[in-house]
Amino acid sequence: MALSSLIIEDIVARKVFNSRGSEAIEVEVFTAGGYGRVTAPMGASRGRGEVVPYPSGGVDEAIDKVSKLVAPELVGLDASDQRLIDKVLHEVDGTPDFRNIGGNTAYAISMAVAVAASASLGIPLFEHLGGCLAHELPYPLGNVIGGGKHVRGRGPDVQEMLVLPVGAEDVLEALQANFLVHKRAGELLAKADPAFTGGRGDEGAWAPNLSTVEALEVLFKACEDVSGELGFDIRIGLDVAASSLWDEGEGAYIYEREGAKRDRGEQVEFILGLIERFNLIYVEDPLMEDDFEGFAELTKKAKRFNCLICGDDLFVTNRARIEHGLKLKAASAIIIKPNQVGTISDAADAIRLARSGGLVPIASHRSGESTDPYLAHLAVGLRCPIIKTGVLGGERVAKLNELLRIAEGLGEVARMARLPSQAA
Ligand code: PGA
Ligand code: ZN
Repeated sequence: MALSSLIIEDIVARKVFNSRGSEAIEVEVFTAGGYGRVTAPMGASRGRGEVVPYPSGGVDEAIDKVSKLVAPELVGLDASDQRLIDKVLHEVDGTPDFRNIGGNTAYAISMAVAVAASASLGIPLFEHLGGCLAHELPYPLGNVIGGGKHVRGRGPDVQEMLVLPVGAEDVLEALQANFLVHKRAGELLAKADPAFTGGRGDEGAWAPNLSTVEALEVLFKACEDVSGELGFDIRIGLDVAASSLWDEGEGAYIYEREGAKRDRGEQVEFILGLIERFNLIYVEDPLMEDDFEGFAELTKKAKRFNCLICGDDLFVTNRARIEHGLKLKAASAIIIKPNQVGTISDAADAIRLARSGGLVPIASHRSGESTDPYLAHLAVGLRCPIIKTGVLGGERVAKLNELLRIAEGLGEVARMARLPSQAA
């Protein structure tokens, strides 16, 4: 029997705007004893296998469907029964990819129900999602220099150059490291390019007029400097977002800025060269989203460098794609974006499946974000050792600061998660 305070009494949806200024759905869930409000994020370099974010009529149609189709089915249910809530969302939608109500609509409702349930129970969201033993804090993977689809004009071809403060002993140290590297990289970019204006892309990363390799040289130096100051290791990662570079007609990756064209073999060698030269710890989507075999080849070759090869557009948090990837040993890590799949239960299942096959799960933001802090709770509750949520910008900092609050609430039992390179 559900506590009466957990019964969903009302669900309201409205149109708001995300960090890119695009329309987004916001959902409020009222229980007898609590309340949750969540805004859906939105990607720019979305994988083809993601659920459909909104119905064809956009956010307006999604809002209409929340009041007419979804709310009547959810009102009266127990908000702490996340599985049931998410099952009803699938049933009401009735399609395999949430094209009827929208995957973003499903995500906002699913997460807002979880937030309302945790409020009704009087426990933090991470504890509601992960149980009372969840106590490990993720390392923040932060985007420092950006290019690709996240910037305008002549930025680097590669979408994201990231940092991971692997030697940090607690969240405060980890965040300080990422903020300092971002700042230092900005100073070095101003030296490297006299025309640098301090412009930033969609995720707050610097958007310099430099090639990928030139930008990596700057980031490498920034990490060295800050590592020296703080006395611990800070490593570099990449999100190539290679589907954005792939030209189907040419059968090759087109690096417009560099004027280079690389087939699969050349792409694998290029990435391996970057891993070795910049001692990379992480490479996301090094090949286009359907090239599981290419991923497998790179994952095998990158093992000796102890570098994680991660699938984002490759897996899109989707069960069938993860199963296929596990069979082929296509990657060693996976990006988890709950709105790629629609509900919290689906995201939790994806994490469980991925972990069972040895993939490191990484909880991730989208380039178009809300100021909600909940990704931090998802990472702690569902035991992701890494959280990818940018460095600068209020919508990114909201999640990073929440990690500090979670650590403070946990007190002495708080621990940094174990990273695979430390385990090796
Ligand atoms: P997004 O991509 O623009 O789809 O959010 C970010 C990423 O590729 O990780
Ligand atoms: Zn990505």
